[in-house]
Amino acid sequence: MNFWPKMQQALSGDEAAPAAPPKPARTSGSAKPLPEGALALIPMRNTVLFPGVIVPVTVGREASVAAAQEAVRAERQVGFLLQRDPAKEKVGPEDLYWIGTAAQVARYVTAPDGAHHLVVQGQSRFRVLEFLEGWPFLVARVAMVEDSAEGGTEIEARFLQLKEQAVQAVELLPNAPEGLAAVVQGVDAPGALADMVANFLDVKPEEKQELLEAFGLKPRLDKVLALLAQRVEVLRISKEIGDQTRKAFDERQREHVLREQMRQIQKELGEGEESAAEIEELKKAVEEAGMPEDTLKHARKELKRLERMGEGSAESSMLRTYLEWLTELPWKADAQKSIDIAEARRVLDEDHFGLEKIKRRILEYLAVRKLNPEGKSPILCFVGPPGVGKTSLGQSIARATGRKFQRVALGGLHDEAEIRGHRRTYIGALPGNVIQVIRRAGSRTGVLMLDEIDKLGMGGFHGDPSSALLEVLDPEQNARFRDNYLGVDFDLSKVMFIATANVLDTIPGPLRDRMEIIQLPGYTEEEKVEIARRYLVKRQLEANGLKPEQAALTDAALAALVRDYTREAGVRSLEREIGSVLRHAAMRIAEGKAEAVTVDAPDLQAILGARRFESEIAQMTSVPGVATGLAWTPVGGDILFIEATRVPGRGKLILTGQLGEVMKESAQAALTLAKKLIDDPLEKVDIHVHVPAGATPKDGPSAGVAMYLALVSLLTGKAVRSDVAMTGEISLRGLVLPIGGVKEKTLAALRAGIRTVMLPRRNEKDLEDVPAEARARLEFVFLDKVEDAVRCAIGELPAPEQKQAA
Ligand SMILES: Nc1ncnc2c1ncn2[C@@H]1O[C@H](COP(=O)(O)OP(=O)(O)OP(=O)(O)O)[C@@H](O)[C@H]1O
Ligand SMILES: [Mg+2]
Repeated sequence: MNFWPKMQQALSGDEAAPAAPPKPARTSGSAKPLPEGALALIPMRNTVLFPGVIVPVTVGREASVAAAQEAVRAERQVGFLLQRDPAKEKVGPEDLYWIGTAAQVARYVTAPDGAHHLVVQGQSRFRVLEFLEGWPFLVARVAMVEDSAEGGTEIEARFLQLKEQAVQAVELLPNAPEGLAAVVQGVDAPGALADMVANFLDVKPEEKQELLEAFGLKPRLDKVLALLAQRVEVLRISKEIGDQTRKAFDERQREHVLREQMRQIQKELGEGEESAAEIEELKKAVEEAGMPEDTLKHARKELKRLERMGEGSAESSMLRTYLEWLTELPWKADAQKSIDIAEARRVLDEDHFGLEKIKRRILEYLAVRKLNPEGKSPILCFVGPPGVGKTSLGQSIARATGRKFQRVALGGLHDEAEIRGHRRTYIGALPGNVIQVIRRAGSRTGVLMLDEIDKLGMGGFHGDPSSALLEVLDPEQNARFRDNYLGVDFDLSKVMFIATANVLDTIPGPLRDRMEIIQLPGYTEEEKVEIARRYLVKRQLEANGLKPEQAALTDAALAALVRDYTREAGVRSLEREIGSVLRHAAMRIAEGKAEAVTVDAPDLQAILGARRFESEIAQMTSVPGVATGLAWTPVGGDILFIEATRVPGRGKLILTGQLGEVMKESAQAALTLAKKLIDDPLEKVDIHVHVPAGATPKDGPSAGVAMYLALVSLLTGKAVRSDVAMTGEISLRGLVLPIGGVKEKTLAALRAGIRTVMLPRRNEKDLEDVPAEARARLEFVFLDKVEDAVRCAIGELPAPEQKQAA
């Protein structure tokens, strides 16, 4: 194994020379020699040692110190085993994994403070056969397990892949020891490489133990590869994030550099002589651009400066770029044909199904603009889950009013200059996004969509983008918007701004105040089928090169796609699934297997595979202790399960599932109420409440009723009805208090196949917002007190009042 010495350096930074151990400070009393085939053992709390690896180990427990000293004294190997519970102080055979690594102690140092430090060199895997008694440390008879000399293409292929990945990982590591990549390259035994990588992997000790227990080369390589691939992905992403800041800057410079190169090339080709003509042209453009008086004066002055400057300097090229920007901006307000409301209504209806209230609001807005074009109209902001048509409504408004449509993506933007531009003194400076899209549109009266205004980055080092955006949107200021690069005012007051957002509460307050919020909460099943029938199928037919007579989906198939293959508030995945179905049809037609294809519901399974969303509710709520709650999420509503269970204990409440503070408090209140209901202080048990799907953080008080029912169900042993879902805050006196998001939650309940929805009494009025056909398909129960919920969802309980009679 020729990589030994090299590795030693790379891994531990220690010299390779095996040190003569100092005479142990404390000799163990027992001189009884270990039998042949037995090892002194050191239990490890968190570390798994691998063969072929050198690591420093600190031992503290008396038995471990004795074991190490015995190994040094007798010049024998010592065995390392992982503990199952790292917290355990005194360990016996049952507390340990029975597969470990035998190692040579290369160094033994007793520090002045009495700590014992070892440097050990892993040598081979072993399996414990039996533990032996009679020593002041753990001893076991063991069988060594050597790596097999398996070979063949399967191993070879994995070996090469592992090497490649390991080198990649090393390169991505910010502070990998120098030369580590070369060491990895040099390893020539697959098993040894796998162990070496395993040692470096940043995974839990149990996972490392699994790697240690993988004796076969193939499974071991596969496992390491899988873990490493994950790790490389994480490293790559974190590196990308770091690179991003640099990239934003690079892109800005690109245009500058390209222009500069072009000039150089023109000069080489002898075209530089035309510069006089060029300036003449620029002069003409300045005069004709329609700039306001002040700006025109400023531009003429800059032009003079350019003339004086002469050809070829870097500054002249920058100045020329600047003047080009000035002349290319749409200073003149283009003649707007006045808005035709009837035509606008026709276009909106043509592009979007349903959304009656929203279309009406848009038409009102257009009507106000038509009657008072100089007035300050509000800025519309569409708020709703993905795929409900926010962006496409914006496009539709542009079409309906005969305006240009442009979009600025604000998501993740955190530099003020991206909106307002960089000063010209800055190398490679350019105007900000707003001015850029306005030039692209060639109009300052178009529709400008500010997409994802809720994802605008926080202000930081480079100034606050939201305050720059405020200037853009504020009707008091935006007639004189000043981009840092332009350095002159530009009139944005005629731009029709429309913003979009998934959620309201991350939009900075001052921005929100300037906008008129229009909510698009999502569609019902029927609406989705209708949208699919009228729009999505048509669009996907076209996208896949099919004629309408060649392929069709029945209504039943569309309904099945909505119900069984997608779960969303909007229609984006639905459109994608329709695309897959039609591509399948296109294939069959292309292969000559059919002339035309009609896809019905039963065909979907063969095309798309098994249904993706079976009713999990019936399954989850079949046992006592589970209730179905309704949650509001940024992407529409969703159902969530509250699970409660009881374990022996001392009356504690255990909460898991990433619950926020408010939700924890409402669990506490629910438990107090439930104890009162069953009239039992529950002093001998702990109650565990869990809300699965731990990846989504959950907070808010609105799960109170569901928590209460889960607990009552658990404590009375009666299951909650599986077709009932609920939402509502509870007070300590058992009152049910109102909550938000009724429409989203109701639609989510319907999507999930719930039949009865329980709502706080005081939310009754919010049902107006729920589409009539959704309302018609659900039964609503309004709650004043928590007992109402019990009666509806669990049934009558054997009343504890009976006890009072006694
Ligand atoms: N009511 C509707 N009628 C017809 N098509 C619709 C309707 N609602 C949405 N769509 C279509 O669904 C698709 C997704 O819509 P869009 O891109 O506008 O979503 P969005 O709300 O902007 O989502 P995101 O928040 O992810 O940007 C578009 O192709 C759109 O035309
Ligand atoms: Mg969008």
